[in-house]
Amino acid sequence: MPETIRPFHTSDLPALYRICLLTGDAGVDATGLYRDPDLLGHLYAGPYPVADPGLTFVVVDDLGVAGYVVATADTYPFQRWLESSWFPVLRAEHPLGQDPQDGTLDHRLIRTIHDAKPVDEPLYRKHPAHLHIDLLPRAQRRGLGRRLIETLADALRDRGVPGLHLGVDARNVGGRAFYERIGFADAGPDGGARMLTLDLL
Ligand SMILES: CC(C)(COP(=O)(O)OP(=O)(O)OC[C@H]1O[C@@H](n2cnc3c(N)ncnc32)[C@H](O)[C@@H]1OP(=O)(O)O)[C@@H](O)C(=O)NCCC(=O)NCCS
Repeated sequence: MPETIRPFHTSDLPALYRICLLTGDAGVDATGLYRDPDLLGHLYAGPYPVADPGLTFVVVDDLGVAGYVVATADTYPFQRWLESSWFPVLRAEHPLGQDPQDGTLDHRLIRTIHDAKPVDEPLYRKHPAHLHIDLLPRAQRRGLGRRLIETLADALRDRGVPGLHLGVDARNVGGRAFYERIGFADAGPDGGARMLTLDLL
């Protein structure tokens, strides 16, 4: 079966969480970095289709879901939704803890879950949407990332969204090359990441 791209279905959620972990260390497998395999997905995959399932698309091949793009059309209201509806349970179930000094990074993601606050950045005026995209190695470099972004961009244009942004880990050389290739502009540093933007209208 050739790879197909289709809209998200709720049954895709476990695959989204798996893929998020398998690509979660600047584009490569992060399994060894986390004791809790779901934490990355709680931050960077799960909330998007739960908040707005119409802006998640998946790649399916013979072996199942092989990649996804998740997005929100409007970052600030999405952050407020995270604050009211997503983070309270996670904060209660994942109390802040010390670095166990064993190389695992759960404590950092838990800190992010606790510290996250809605912030309305000037960047969001022209580029209110943001996304996360991840493909398993077997689906990479086959034009599927470009097709996923185009599919999402069409859905955002249909809603009149003028632009989108994302952060890419400065260590993710392949990811940065990809975004540059498909037309994203560099909007400057953002901690250990680069902020990139794409005009849609
Ligand atoms: C980054 C990623 C989304 C790109 O998707 P992809 O399907 O592999 O990329 P495509 O095949 O659609 O490539 C589109 C263009 O980008 C270029 N490109 C893609 N990956 C590249 C890489 N690693 N190095 C250089 N160029 C790259 C392709 O050559 C292609 O250029 P062309 O149109 O001139 O032929 C995918 O490889 C991936 O999920 N990687 C692991 C997770 C990750 O890094 N996610 C992004 C986190 S911000």
